[in-house]
Amino acid sequence: MSAIIMDGKALAMKIRDGVKAKCNLLLEKGITPCLAVILVGNDPASLSYVKGKEKALAEAGMKSRDIRLFADTQEAALLSIIADLNKDESTHGILVQLPLPHHINEGNVIKAINPEKDVDCFTPVSVGNMVLGRKGFLPCTPSGVLALLREYNIPIAGSHVVVVGRSNIVGRPLANLLTTKEYNATVTLCHTGTYDISFHTRQADIVIAATGMPSLITPGMIKENAVVIDVGINRVSDPSAKKGYRLCGDVDPAVEEKASFFSPVPGGIGPMTIAMLIRNVAEAAGNSLNK
Ligand code: GUN
Repeated sequence: MSAIIMDGKALAMKIRDGVKAKCNLLLEKGITPCLAVILVGNDPASLSYVKGKEKALAEAGMKSRDIRLFADTQEAALLSIIADLNKDESTHGILVQLPLPHHINEGNVIKAINPEKDVDCFTPVSVGNMVLGRKGFLPCTPSGVLALLREYNIPIAGSHVVVVGRSNIVGRPLANLLTTKEYNATVTLCHTGTYDISFHTRQADIVIAATGMPSLITPGMIKENAVVIDVGINRVSDPSAKKGYRLCGDVDPAVEEKASFFSPVPGGIGPMTIAMLIRNVAEAAGNSLNK
């Protein structure tokens, strides 16, 4: 039997429509939600993500301040731009697209963002609030995964979820959220130091792959009727493709034959990340009203 394909694109559009309605209310009150989007350098994948985010903002009636910086921009210059944006009342959110060039210390840059404008939930304060269950923005990709699981009524409470990948952007925050009372999952977090990933994934009710390793998760690594969420977006060279590459997830699409639900790449979590981002921007703008 073939898995039900989880349509992240459709759910993302529904969420984006809701955000647009909220945005219209803010516009009536004289507030145009605005996200500053900073891209340092010209990594093609990052540029394409950033353009996707800016397009979604525009479609929801929001503004983006598109800040493009040369790859050799100094850390001090970037910090000074962030300091200005922190002070600017018409900018409600600040997003610095990662990764940054190696000469810039990512930790210093993230720490410089005002947590009230940290719609990515990357700053130490935001992450601390999330871990402690305090008010604050939730990280976009993890909350996109959770929203997609909910949309398909996948039981999370009591389930064994195996998250593969321990990035600060996806794996670790997601594992953390899943263990809260709200979700009540039992979580195993696998990473490059895990001796036998397959031993763990074969026991999972839900496998979430966020490793950046193309097709790492194969059908033999999951149990029959598992739910499989592919978060990876990898560019693999393909001379037969028009662009010379194709997008490929962390999961071999053949798992579709064994899984009960499958969130594929593209069309699964990617659009959900963007929907959650613009939702956070609308929330940040709304918060500015109550100050
Ligand atoms: N790089 C990869 N994913 C993300 C993301 O969600 N936000 C930012 N700022 N950078 C990223």
